[in-house]
Amino acid sequence: MSVRVLRPLPEAHVVITGGAGFLGSHLCERFLAEGARVTAVDNLLTGSRDNIAHLLDEPRFTFVEHDVTRHLDIEGDVDAILHFASPASPIDYLRLPIQTLKVGALGTHNMLGLALAKGARFLIASTSEVYGDPQVHPQPETYWGHVNPIGPRGVYDEAKRFAEAITFAYHRSHGVDVRVARIFNTYGPRMRMEDGRAVPAFMNAAIDGVPLPIHGDGLQTRSLSYVDDMVDGFLALLTHDEVGPVNLGSPFEVTMLQLAEAVQDACGSHPGVELHPRPVDDPQVRRPDTTIARERLGWEATTPLAVGLARTAAWWREQREAA
Ligand SMILES: NC(=O)c1ccc[n+]([C@@H]2O[C@H](COP(=O)([O-])OP(=O)(O)OC[C@H]3O[C@@H](n4cnc5c(N)ncnc54)[C@H](O)[C@@H]3O)[C@@H](O)[C@H]2O)c1
Repeated sequence: MSVRVLRPLPEAHVVITGGAGFLGSHLCERFLAEGARVTAVDNLLTGSRDNIAHLLDEPRFTFVEHDVTRHLDIEGDVDAILHFASPASPIDYLRLPIQTLKVGALGTHNMLGLALAKGARFLIASTSEVYGDPQVHPQPETYWGHVNPIGPRGVYDEAKRFAEAITFAYHRSHGVDVRVARIFNTYGPRMRMEDGRAVPAFMNAAIDGVPLPIHGDGLQTRSLSYVDDMVDGFLALLTHDEVGPVNLGSPFEVTMLQLAEAVQDACGSHPGVELHPRPVDDPQVRRPDTTIARERLGWEATTPLAVGLARTAAWWREQREAA
């Protein structure tokens, strides 16, 4: 196979799986803005046509409704494949365990086969969940993780760990030019309102004026990045020599109680919080060591939480008013 040098984006054809999802739709928009031709592939399992409706008239944009666990043929040159297809929110992967394992395994295998056939660069959307409930804090890329393979969350964590393993196998055995992004929690417009993650759940509650649902004592931590920063990170990794894995996330860690406070401020509504039982294997802490992203890619998440949440809350209110 011949690996082509990634052409400048205005000449490139980029395939984005999961392109009708939250992150995928922002990626489609961004690559179009950079002048690239974009093919989004999605079976709409957890995504929506609404996320890409504003792109459908763009001549450089093509949408293919397809399940990437099945063979996919794309005509002509492909310069890069960004494999983002996968249920991503806990309520999705807990209700879709087999589909989650299949898209991480068979879907990644198929997309690597396409990358091999086309000589395309391949970027896999991996996750901080490969670290499981971490015993090292913050988590550097060298940490191998602490995952319960047979717990309910194992379907997602292990699918992504397999996806990383097969990506590196194609890199070593077939010379596929790969990039591995370990994405930490990201939020912003186009998250699904009912996707169960903390920001949507808190925003719905704050806007409804009912107490925000907190799991456990609310002292567990997460590090959240605004979607525009994350998309900058994907572009930086794709266009850089660094193979990865690279942690992409914010080093700014907040407890769930602090996040609940910040969401209430962003929504201008303070109904307080209500404690609920903690889900099985819910990680206690989560913060990336971002040294590699900062020093080698020159990337860091810069949008302050209050700014990102205010933008998200404005979008959220619009959507709810339109619904
Ligand atoms: N959002 C985050 O905070 C976050 C964090 C870590 C990793 N990630 C990863 O980023 C990617 C996108 O996440 P998201 O938050 O945008 O989720 P999302 O659910 O909004 O998007 C995922 C998309 O993949 C599509 N999809 C699922 N299975 C498919 C299949 N078999 N064939 C074709 N399309 C399929 C869905 O329909 C959806 O549009 C996922 O791979 C996820 O694991 C996201």
